[in-house]
Amino acid sequence: MTVDLFLDGVPARQRSAALYEQLHTAIAHGRFAAGDRLPTTRSLADELGIARSTIATVYARLVAEGHALGRVGDGTFVGPTTATVRAASPVPAPFARAVRQTGRSVADLESPPRGWLADLRSGRPDPALFPLTDWRQSVTSTLHLPPPGYDHPAGLPELRRAIAAWIKRSRGVDATADHVLVTAGAQGAFDLCAHTIVGPDDAVAVEDPGYRLARASFAARGARIVAVPVDRDGIVVDHIPAHARVIVVTPSHQAPTGALLSPDRRRQLLQRAGELDAIVIEDDYDTEYRYVDRPLEPLHRLDTSGRTVYVGSFSKTISPSLRLGFLVAPPRVVDALADARRVVDAQPPHLTQAALAAFITNGAFERHLRRTRRAYRERRDLLVARLAGMADDGSISAFAPCQAGLHTTVSLPDDIDAEDLARRLHVAGVAIATTADDQLDNRPSDLVIGFGLADGNRLTVALDLISATLSTLR
Ligand SMILES: Cc1ncc(COP(=O)(O)O)c(C=O)c1O
Repeated sequence: MTVDLFLDGVPARQRSAALYEQLHTAIAHGRFAAGDRLPTTRSLADELGIARSTIATVYARLVAEGHALGRVGDGTFVGPTTATVRAASPVPAPFARAVRQTGRSVADLESPPRGWLADLRSGRPDPALFPLTDWRQSVTSTLHLPPPGYDHPAGLPELRRAIAAWIKRSRGVDATADHVLVTAGAQGAFDLCAHTIVGPDDAVAVEDPGYRLARASFAARGARIVAVPVDRDGIVVDHIPAHARVIVVTPSHQAPTGALLSPDRRRQLLQRAGELDAIVIEDDYDTEYRYVDRPLEPLHRLDTSGRTVYVGSFSKTISPSLRLGFLVAPPRVVDALADARRVVDAQPPHLTQAALAAFITNGAFERHLRRTRRAYRERRDLLVARLAGMADDGSISAFAPCQAGLHTTVSLPDDIDAEDLARRLHVAGVAIATTADDQLDNRPSDLVIGFGLADGNRLTVALDLISATLSTLR
């Protein structure tokens, strides 16, 4: 990697600062790509005619500030640059309010740069397990006719039928095509519910900790968010306030704690919702990847009053890139939501829906699930075995047993701050998150270890690094 650096005429005492400024600007302005290797200290020292130690000091500062990643014996690499590029780009005045309102950066969504050791961010399935051949065949099978034009806003009839048949078989959810509305992932379902079934200032009870983006959909549409605590059995039903109009839950794999909503709690929850005449939104997140026992009955199946909206997604099972999910509700509600959907995005994309319908009906989806279940189970078993060892030797205080899904949460000893640990791991080349974003209170956060993007080897390397970092911190 070459970049022009100019130190001619710079007094010796100011060379370190000048070199830092020039490299920092080059990174911030995107002249390097994330993951690019910086020149070795030796080659840069030769080229610029200054001491290697000066260069090493500058690199150490770039690493400490997160602009670069240093890896022992391997070199120094440019870190994720987008945040700095964005910060440097001006916001034209008419957009100032919009930019202030969203507040957050989406930089964390971008892929970690090349050269990272492991990506342990949660909620991401492995693209290496994507069923390329079967998917290609399903796409090809839809290409014999031109796309028809505007479709039904609730989704393609053959996909709605395929989904209804699939969830009946896999989850016992009693639905026909008329009960199914195809959405832009689970998020599309949350958002549609948020702006149709929730009025301004209606109270929406959410799990705490709970999935930030579901909560954000309701908050963005003017709902009042009420946090309800979660324990080992899932949402603590007694804490759902009497004014709740909607209750949003993740019964199959509480996001992020991993708790399964116990059978008793399921019954209590439906009873409480009945007393309050509230709607239940059941995000049946991660139900397809379950490693112990049989799946528990969905709330939708247990509910005899029709107040449960069941939400599913193909993001974890196939790919988030499809942007396809669905909700199941009584047909008249589906019609109303479909009508509301017209003003959002009119309909889901025709070709992807047609391909997914073929993929489900020709049996490729079930084949793919069998294969991915095996792969993720191996990773999960490896992770659980390693975490058990770390719990035994006291380097972590506890971990969720990972009964389902593609991640688990780890609580750390009192003297270790999960945010600090995550930052250190990031600098060392491991992308990892904590529960902080999902929490509404100020309790210490837990570490979240995802294994969707890390195969056994990467997971092992990352866990070694987590162990080593924890022991330096103790
Ligand atoms: C709790 C929860 N529900 C649902 C989803 C699926 O989201 P989507 O289908 O919008 O990609 C996620 C993704 O991370 C999630 O964490």
